[in-house]
Amino acid sequence: MSVVDEIKARIDIVDLIGETVELRRSGKNYVGFCPFHPNTRTPAFAVFPETGTWRCFGACNTGGDIFTFVMKKEGWDFRQALEYLAQRAGVPLKDRPEKGEGETATLTEWRQVLQEAVTFYQQLLRQPQGRAALEYLRGRGLSDGTIETFALGYAPRERDALVRYMTQRGFKPQLLAEVGLARIDAETGEARDYFRHRIMFPVRDAQGRPVGFGARTLDPEGVPKYLNSPTTPLFDKGRLLYGLDRARKAIRERDRVVLVEGYMDVLALHQAGFQEAVSVMGTALTPHHLRQLQRLTRNIYLALDPDPAGRRALWRSLEVARDAASETEPTLDAKGLLRYEQRLKVNLRVVVLPEGRDPDEIVREGPARWEALIREARPLVLFLMDLLAADLDLDDPKARAQLAETMLPLVHLVANPVEREAYLRALAERVRVPVEQLRRWRPAQPKRRRPQPSSAPRPAAPPSAAPVPPEFELLPSLVYPVANVPLMERFVLGVLWQQPNLLPRVQRYLRSLGQEPLQEEDFQEEAHRQVWRLLEEVQRKFVPAREYLDQQAPQQGLQTLVEAMTRLVAPLFQETEGSEGANGLPGVSISLKTSTLLREIARTILYLRVVRIAQAFRHLEDVLRTHPHPWEQDVLEQLKRLPQVRIRVEQALSKPLPLMGVGL
Ligand code: UTP
Ligand code: MN
Repeated sequence: MSVVDEIKARIDIVDLIGETVELRRSGKNYVGFCPFHPNTRTPAFAVFPETGTWRCFGACNTGGDIFTFVMKKEGWDFRQALEYLAQRAGVPLKDRPEKGEGETATLTEWRQVLQEAVTFYQQLLRQPQGRAALEYLRGRGLSDGTIETFALGYAPRERDALVRYMTQRGFKPQLLAEVGLARIDAETGEARDYFRHRIMFPVRDAQGRPVGFGARTLDPEGVPKYLNSPTTPLFDKGRLLYGLDRARKAIRERDRVVLVEGYMDVLALHQAGFQEAVSVMGTALTPHHLRQLQRLTRNIYLALDPDPAGRRALWRSLEVARDAASETEPTLDAKGLLRYEQRLKVNLRVVVLPEGRDPDEIVREGPARWEALIREARPLVLFLMDLLAADLDLDDPKARAQLAETMLPLVHLVANPVEREAYLRALAERVRVPVEQLRRWRPAQPKRRRPQPSSAPRPAAPPSAAPVPPEFELLPSLVYPVANVPLMERFVLGVLWQQPNLLPRVQRYLRSLGQEPLQEEDFQEEAHRQVWRLLEEVQRKFVPAREYLDQQAPQQGLQTLVEAMTRLVAPLFQETEGSEGANGLPGVSISLKTSTLLREIARTILYLRVVRIAQAFRHLEDVLRTHPHPWEQDVLEQLKRLPQVRIRVEQALSKPLPLMGVGL
């Protein structure tokens, strides 16, 4: 049994959720008011002890298992929820970074060292040698309270002050090197401090545990201005946000987060009462950053300096940016941001900073100045539109055409019709054509190899190939008739894990059936969602998919699950192997087996959706029995929507799914 399964077996979901939500029995299940959206009259929230899942049938229309619940409630990521639930269940966890040869330090030891270092630097700030550093911080307007709260410190000039202090306390230099606090001289074998004569900003994870440092030089000419801890399993700039541990509460309460660029900005804003500020640490935003924030609020404000080296270029380039800022997380360019905005259903707004000024300086002029800038923040699409327009001479028709060509695909990414219409109008105004004309405009499609026309002879199946197995034979008891939801989810993920390049085709296939693309919500279990997110991420990265997945699985504690999935789908791949490489090119004819596989995945996904809709029906029936009038608007809407969705999904399922001819 995997750790996750073991935890699930030991924790009663009704007990766990019952601590937050007042639950009432309703048949086999429990109902209550949803803790994640305003819900007071018709209980829209259900817990299903049999499957160990919960679901909100109201505005959230989301659900999951105990992990998902804790993550959503606390705004944690999976690892944090895992640690919390493991402790609660009394299930021991193996510490994460399973490192290679010779690695003996446990995570606990690493954390101890980092905590000791925080204290060491902190007390030095109050000693004579730290005088200049303290003066500097005060000179920048920081109060002693802020300096204390953020545990700011000073790293002295000597080359091994920290190393000596730590070895005296029994920590090995090797350990210091591993957490990025010391370097070991390759020739002499001597350990030296990594940070010297710098102001130290301890960086913490979302739970407030130190994971590394940002360190500002005190020398006006010092290079680099900020030196950050090297990447370690604990310190990954693509996943961390400075200040998040202290900001979480305010983000929830004010229902917004402001993302800034620098350590000093976070300090100044928190001190001025804007505790909802967090910062990236000299990297671009990653999907992981956004997901973390999305769990706390849908309103994300980007107050990123428009003009430090490269940033402007990054905003402008509408291509996928390849950035080595993070080793594990892809970074987002403008288009990627917009995609994620849609996918995560968040509102991204850009706070336009007056040229060359940091939030730090602005807020010191007064909180009202800052608040005004936030109020004037621009929706991402409009911001991009103006940024592009600023570089163009819009009296030139060619420049206007260019603006339209660039912006239209972006506008079309926006899912909400009201919003999309507004952007279309804004664009029409700027390019000076009637909006109707823009609506009909199809931007030039990127060149793509088309599948062979149907008149061309279709490549025949290899003569020796066995006849296509009838659908029901391929996955006998696996998918039908046993509605084993976790198994079905694992089947879908298992196939995609083996052939990540199949995912875009699955999406196109579903679309051709008039169905929504596969999404996180299709999976009930959080661990499954984690796997899903990796598969999705791989689509955006320039790394070999296989390597990335194989490297990420153990890092994210998914090894057991991946092995189970692989075993589950192994029989499907024994014969298929070799019939299509992992890099199967789009437009190239695909083997029958791959297409059959595709169909089975689609079928399983649709079946999962039917199960979920059936569940929703049963729940709403229960609720209607006790609350004959569904007062709540969103519950009413669900009631109206469900039958239609069900009919659509069932129609798709009842027809034999087409194999070819959808440009697969
Ligand atoms: P800035 O150069 O804008 O610095 O870098 P700042 O925050 O305004 O710093 P002060 O006000 O001069 O003290 C913004 C952020 O980019 C990262 C840091 O996270 C910094 O806070 N950065 C910058 C680095 O990581 N390394 C650098 O060399 C410079
Ligand atoms: Mn600054």
